[in-house]
Amino acid sequence: MTSAMSTSTDIDLKSFQFILTSVEDHIGIIQLNRPDKLNAINMPLMEELVKCLTWMDHNEDIRCIVLTGNERAFAAGADIEQMASATPVDMILRDQFVYWDRIRKIHKPLVAAISGYALGGGCELAMTCDMIIASETAKFGQPEINLGVIPGAGGTQRLTRAVGKARAMELVLTGNLFTAQQALEWGLINKVVPVELYLEEAKNLAKTIASKPPIAVRMAKESVLKTFDTSLESGLEFERKAFYLLFASQDKNEGMKAFLEKRQPEFQGR
Ligand code: HXC
Repeated sequence: MTSAMSTSTDIDLKSFQFILTSVEDHIGIIQLNRPDKLNAINMPLMEELVKCLTWMDHNEDIRCIVLTGNERAFAAGADIEQMASATPVDMILRDQFVYWDRIRKIHKPLVAAISGYALGGGCELAMTCDMIIASETAKFGQPEINLGVIPGAGGTQRLTRAVGKARAMELVLTGNLFTAQQALEWGLINKVVPVELYLEEAKNLAKTIASKPPIAVRMAKESVLKTFDTSLESGLEFERKAFYLLFASQDKNEGMKAFLEKRQPEFQGR
């Protein structure tokens, strides 16, 4: 299968400078790898990340994707050095949000595995993922206000939708960091585990999702995300169409047949 942006044949997983990647048990794993700068997100890192995500999205062997950093930092934000002397025109011409928009369009579920700092663009990148597993040491925050700006990659929108207006307002206006436990209590993340387990836990979640029928997983992700930009009426309509569509899939036949025959289904992604 080919895609507009890249194909399975035109990517060398070992060629990246700012990310490390691997594939295991139908999950793709991407590790941000700029440790000396706490994985600060510069343009080359973002370009590599999107290239790899796009490849994984079109690789039928991969059914779920885990995005992680290292123990000290998932990502401490966009690269401040790259922004310090930028003018609005520089920022417009840089057009970095084309990459962020592309991540939002990835069909396969994205699980963020977070330890240490997830700040500014790092927090926004985590929130662009579909689920978040965090270590007890994780620190989240939108500290852009301290730099004289505001979140630019969805922070004001996604944080508010996740934690509510009052909390989001306070976090964005003060720049205060918050803990993994708070993020859990506020509904931003899925689970908090000891630091030695966060990646394993994220992989386990990804593997469970990878064992499900891929077309149904894709429709489910699209339908849940639809909530954020539509009315209930349109969302229900969208869900219903997606539900009907799945009756055309072989995996629906297999799933229901397997249930009736009291055996495990074997999903083919068709
Ligand atoms: C560039 C960064 C960086 C960043 C850390 N570094 N964060 N470089 N951009 N966002 C670099 C430091 O300069 C330093 O490099 C090295 O990483 C280690 O960081 P330290 O500050 O020495 O570590 P520590 O004292 O432990 O403090 C950790 C920290 C602090 C609290 C996370 O680094 C920090 O406050 N970082 C900035 C967080 C932030 O404001 N993020 C929002 C960015 S704006 P050297 O070379 O000196 O060793 C943003 C906008 C998004 O994200 C817009 C949409 C894309």
